[in-house]
Amino acid sequence: MRSVYIETYGCQMNIADTELLFGHLGRNGYQRTADPQSADVILLNTCAIREHAEERIIGRLGDLVRMKNGRPDVQLGIAGCMAQHVRDKLMDRLPFVDFVVGPDAYRRLPELLGEPGGDPFVDVRLDKAETYADIAPRREAGVRGWITIMRGCDKFCTFCIVPFVRGRERSLPATAIFDQVRQLAADGYREVVYLGQTVNAYRHDGVDFAELLRRTNSIDGIERIRFTSPHPSDMSAAVIEAMGQCDKVCPQLHLPVQSGSNRVLASMERGYSVEQYVDLVDRLRKAKPGIALSTDIIVGFPGEEESDFEATLSLMRQVGYDSAFMFKYSQREGTKAAKWDETVGDEEKSRRLQAVIAQQEEQSAAINRKLIGSTVEVLVEGPARRRDGWLVGKTLHFKTAVLPAGGGIAPGAVVDVRVSEATAHTLVASA
Ligand code: 5AD
Ligand code: SF4
Repeated sequence: MRSVYIETYGCQMNIADTELLFGHLGRNGYQRTADPQSADVILLNTCAIREHAEERIIGRLGDLVRMKNGRPDVQLGIAGCMAQHVRDKLMDRLPFVDFVVGPDAYRRLPELLGEPGGDPFVDVRLDKAETYADIAPRREAGVRGWITIMRGCDKFCTFCIVPFVRGRERSLPATAIFDQVRQLAADGYREVVYLGQTVNAYRHDGVDFAELLRRTNSIDGIERIRFTSPHPSDMSAAVIEAMGQCDKVCPQLHLPVQSGSNRVLASMERGYSVEQYVDLVDRLRKAKPGIALSTDIIVGFPGEEESDFEATLSLMRQVGYDSAFMFKYSQREGTKAAKWDETVGDEEKSRRLQAVIAQQEEQSAAINRKLIGSTVEVLVEGPARRRDGWLVGKTLHFKTAVLPAGGGIAPGAVVDVRVSEATAHTLVASA
């Protein structure tokens, strides 16, 4: 048996794709190894969302090329979004890369890899029908299982590379999804997270996302349902109603807004205004009382003036996000916005980024502090990383909580605990 080592970068969808690659390669004569030094195939599953991600990966490739020196039979390759984005550049700059496979080419990977030391190859064709619905992933053990229910994106926000590297939107058949959910439950997982670039745009053979949630809610053994990331424009009344009526759908949502300025939202071509977004938040809060919201923010988009930036800060306070992922705008070749001059310098972007982060940290801490003294339900995952003798898990609102081990509490247990301390990122509970 040949061995394969995979290193994953970027979003949850890439982590799920790595599980898919391990499943597929595992059934085709490869065993997984955690050690690149001894691997026959070394693969980086890459991200292209921002320049920084690509730079890190190029750096890491340099290390791996050195490690591979003297072992000519080892095949070193890259998969994922960056493979698609910079394939030509990559082959020039890194002649030691043996293969490049885009996100729709994983099915052929065992065949393409061929024999040890096989010929170099590139397969970055996009295939608008490929969903890998019939390929079982090999999942990390745990209590939370991720299922990719749709792939690609049709939105073409002007800053975003995703539609170019992952191709058109396509959904998996609902039956294939439910088979995976039942398998998760049978394997002891307690929570399912549906994944997709615009996950709530899911639609297959007349089953839409609202219907998918309803049917998932009645599958025994699964206690919690989440999904990420939805697009505000696809948040239909039916989806909101289903979220409200399905008791297993957690009161938590990551709802990327990107900017709090209508002018910037329009040039990003996000498809909603600030007012529409705020109205959506109101309807979600009515349907799912106490829902925790998080978001994505980009600062320094071309044309973003100080007043636009302040509007973003103001919207973030108004919505009262529990947490946020915040980024400096990064120009991506091939996107519409890449043709526009950057109007915000890097130093100013950094200042704006620091300001949104500081405001959000304060807000997150204040929201979490309000939980001190209350009881929260935690799905226990395992030992806490930085605290000996403690366990870690997530609350219904997807907050990280640590609690003292003992009393026979095992991973997979759902326990009610009292919050005794809180920071912006963690709740500390007494059992
Ligand atoms: N620059 C900065 N951030 C970006 N994102 C997507 N494209 C870019 C870009 N070019 C952010 C968005 C998106 C998240 C996954 O990454 O906020 O929601
Ligand atoms: Fe990118 Fe917009 Fe699609 Fe999200 S919805 S993946 S930001 S193009």
